Amino acid sequence: MNNFIGNACRSLTIGVLFAVYTGPAIGGVGEGLELYNSYCSVCHGEAGEGQAMGKSLNDRSANSLSDAEVVSVIKDGRSGTGMAGWGDSFDDEEILDIANHVRSLQGRSGILLEEREAVLDTPEIIAGRTLFNGKGKCVTCHSYGDEGGSIGPALDGVARRLDDSELKEALLDPSAKVAKNYRAKKVIKPDGTIVLGRFRNESDRTLQIQSEDGRRWVTFFKDRVSSITNENDSLMPSIFLTLEKMERDQLLAFLQSL
Ligand code: HEC
Ligand code: HEC
Repeated sequence: MNNFIGNACRSLTIGVLFAVYTGPAIGGVGEGLELYNSYCSVCHGEAGEGQAMGKSLNDRSANSLSDAEVVSVIKDGRSGTGMAGWGDSFDDEEILDIANHVRSLQGRSGILLEEREAVLDTPEIIAGRTLFNGKGKCVTCHSYGDEGGSIGPALDGVARRLDDSELKEALLDPSAKVAKNYRAKKVIKPDGTIVLGRFRNESDRTLQIQSEDGRRWVTFFKDRVSSITNENDSLMPSIFLTLEKMERDQLLAFLQSL
């Protein structure tokens, strides 16, 4: 191919790509085409048709990947296969550019990733967060992001870990199934005082629990207390039950956004 036609072809291709990207894509073509041709086409082919060392990016399996999955397979790779992760070689924007190029090879519009902030911004979620940090007192025992206590599990991604009915049960009936590693111990001191807390450590002679308010880690010598027993009930109070229907929905919406 002589240079003139080569250049004409290239600018035609880029023109077409720009046309493809005038959708709702976040992140543009950028360097996607160039990076793809330099690093990916050896294995996947320049048009994504597949080569000896890599599969087609245009078959049914590749087309069925969600936008987030395309980004994550490029970033993190697939362990145990020839597909290495590229997260250490490229920054997020470059990964997005490459992913956009993969989509264009599939004849599809660009990558549209859910924006977390946008989700966090609904009035229901904001109201739920306020309840979580205030009236509900959830934050004294649970963290999300960098905030909150450690008596209960961190709640980041809780709605992906628990399905709908498990999440509702955790809220409505905390003691029905107590999360492993968050069990409670009950210590009765010689004067009859009862101390409840999250079990933390144990040796032959000592037991360490974290106080219910999360602030103190207390060590007891086993031979100096009257009894130590496993507490079957969750340390989580049934605050959720005391909330109004609307407040429960708001709190749920907030938990689902984490
Ligand atoms: C050394 C060869 C090689 C290179 C280089 C490579 N890949 Fe892959 N890629 C593979 C293999 C092999 C698979 C199939 C993995 C599997 O079996 O799940 C794969 C899978 C994928 C998939 C998932 C396809 C599907 O159907 O699930 C995508 C998307 C992908 N690669 C994109 C890329 C991009 C973009 C680059 C460049 C940054 C790249 N690959 C570089 C070998 C490679
Ligand atoms: C006094 C501490 C405490 C308070 C206050 C508290 N929790 Fe909990 N929560 C726990 C403990 C401990 C667990 C783990 C034991 C269990 O499964 O019940 C837990 C478990 C959970 C779980 C299940 C998590 C999982 O990964 O299994 C959810 C969801 C939850 N709490 C939400 C809330 C919400 C929402 C509030 C506020 C209305 C709240 N909690 C208030 C202590 C607390």
